[in-house]
Amino acid sequence: MSARIPMTLPFGGAPLCGEAARAVAAVRLQALAADLPDGLTARMMDLDDSNLLADFRVRVVATLEDPDHYRMAGEVGNFVADHLGEKGLTAGIFRHEGRSGDGSGGRLVAYGALGLPSGKDPNRGRDLDLPEAELPWVAHMSSAMVDPSERGRGLHHRLIDWRIEVAEALGRRHLITTVSTRNHRSWGHLAGHGIYPKRLVRVGGDLVRLLVHRDFTADPIFDTASAELVAVEELAGRWDVFERGHVWGRVAVGDGAALRWYALCGREKGSAGA
Ligand SMILES: CC(C)(COP(=O)(O)OP(=O)(O)OC[C@H]1O[C@@H](n2cnc3c(N)ncnc32)[C@H](O)[C@@H]1OP(=O)(O)O)[C@@H](O)C(=O)NCCC(=O)NCCS
Repeated sequence: MSARIPMTLPFGGAPLCGEAARAVAAVRLQALAADLPDGLTARMMDLDDSNLLADFRVRVVATLEDPDHYRMAGEVGNFVADHLGEKGLTAGIFRHEGRSGDGSGGRLVAYGALGLPSGKDPNRGRDLDLPEAELPWVAHMSSAMVDPSERGRGLHHRLIDWRIEVAEALGRRHLITTVSTRNHRSWGHLAGHGIYPKRLVRVGGDLVRLLVHRDFTADPIFDTASAELVAVEELAGRWDVFERGHVWGRVAVGDGAALRWYALCGREKGSAGA
């Protein structure tokens, strides 16, 4: 393991939540909004957006190329109420089709949600066996969805960056979530931002999911001598990979119809894996 640097806890040792956390998140959202492609704006969403967010999620889930990519059965609590209310922060990206200033709020085309568990709330830090004392400093990279017509324009990458900045600003040193092994675009993007698949876990009954994690106080280094490629279709059955190390990224091999996706697996430098 990399050496852990003790982090100074901001805000007198208690995690910010509620309106104070929203204010921190809103400030960080200004940078994202300033850099969006033409016709798009961003704003914090709140409980008044509940129907908008719920409908959008149902629409995107209905269009998934593989239903396993996102299963609402794997969620805990009330996703919409939690992430628009006290237990989370959600940014929405909107497309304005009319003239600017026409008074319409625009069409929701993407969101990114960050969960801020507290107290006895479900906390993915437990799946990672984090010490109890660290659980208040966990943020959940809960989910992001982009309208199919707006994909490939960097919206997901931007929403990942925004959530990383907000979690770090709030002193939530652990960013954690679960992702389908087959949704390699999603976990590949997260791994590209240092949020690596560390374990396989079962959620919502019998769904096998990657538990992905970044600790802002650690800077893990890949031991390339241990590199191994595992086809993404096989990853859900490869618990052994996570006994030896973890996944560092995704790799494409081949072109066109022959293109295949692989997980790049291996040890962390300095770890005592096999
Ligand atoms: C997974 C998902 C969120 C990706 O969204 P997206 O907005 O298309 O992703 P991005 O545009 O950020 O990235 C896709 C590609 O766009 C390209 N791109 C274009 N402009 C870019 C920019 N400004 N910055 C970064 N990448 C950019 C990149 O090449 C990137 O390639 P990569 O996959 O090799 O990194 C989207 O497919 C989706 O909503 N899927 C269904 C729901 C889901 O699975 N959600 C995730 C689980 S919660």
